[in-house]
Amino acid sequence: MSNHRNASSAKTAELQREIDDIYAVQLDHVTKDFGGGVLGLDDVNIGFRAGRVTVLLGLSGSGKSTLLRHINGLHTPTTGTVRVLGHHLNSTGKRGLRELRRNIGVIFQSFNLVGPMSVLENVCAGQLGSLKGPRISLLMYPKSVRREAIEKLDRVGLADRAFQRADTLSGGQQQRVAIARALMQHPTVLLADEPVASLDPVSALDVINLLRQIAEEDKLTVIASLHQVQLAIEFADRIIGLRTGQAVLDRATQGLSAEEASTIYSSVSGMDLAEAAVDPRAAASGVTR
Ligand SMILES: Nc1ncnc2c1ncn2[C@@H]1O[C@H](COP(=O)(O)OP(=O)(O)OP(=O)(O)O)[C@@H](O)[C@H]1O
Ligand SMILES: [Mg+2]
Repeated sequence: MSNHRNASSAKTAELQREIDDIYAVQLDHVTKDFGGGVLGLDDVNIGFRAGRVTVLLGLSGSGKSTLLRHINGLHTPTTGTVRVLGHHLNSTGKRGLRELRRNIGVIFQSFNLVGPMSVLENVCAGQLGSLKGPRISLLMYPKSVRREAIEKLDRVGLADRAFQRADTLSGGQQQRVAIARALMQHPTVLLADEPVASLDPVSALDVINLLRQIAEEDKLTVIASLHQVQLAIEFADRIIGLRTGQAVLDRATQGLSAEEASTIYSSVSGMDLAEAAVDPRAAASGVTR
């Protein structure tokens, strides 16, 4: 009897490994109850395929950040399970979570650079997760780290700005530095919460194109939240639409017609593109906040 049970649990584990190979991140019936009747996430079931770019699209308050925070363990689900790179977040423990986070790069809307520090120091700091002790100057980083940081800066087109103060760069440049910093971790998964929301349209497109290129070259699993449908279609392999914590749409972007794009718009915003065109709130972004 026990042999039989062992054989069956070995089969289950093997099956789970096969699923983990396909899906870098899996949310299974995830609900986040913030109390007071607010469900940040409401029974969300999504598998994010390894090596693909997925965009979470939705209005303000739809649950995009909440979902992203579940993936790096900043939130724990009220019910349901989150599995990332083969680890169950509910049972991985503090140390396991710390190790897992080294494989998860994060990019923020506000860049989160240390303004008075040089660009190069900011990028070197991306290695802090795997170096012991705080560093107070560039020379305290091993030469190999500094060299790698310059390579990453070169990759995002900013090697010539290495010694400039980070807060003297433009928004688009600062986000590029943040991308270089995230790459220092050699991440497998890259989470980006509204990475271009603080940028003008031209810089936004530049940063999105850079992210797309890096995702393809490094075979990263990218999960990003965005507000703009058009940008999402250009950037993502797949779009997940969120509305009041529920996944209301799940679509591959390949071969998407304008009509289908309009359907995406209405399913996440509750209005169609024709209405949006005359709605001043929708003017700039494509989806109202
Ligand atoms: N820590 C928290 N405590 C209580 N409620 C929260 C918390 N975090 C998020 N919420 C609520 O959960 C819902 C989803 O919020 P979330 O921040 O995930 O939305 P979002 O889609 O990222 O919005 P935005 O586009 O404005 O960033 C909202 O109703 C929000 O008020
Ligand atoms: Mg958010």
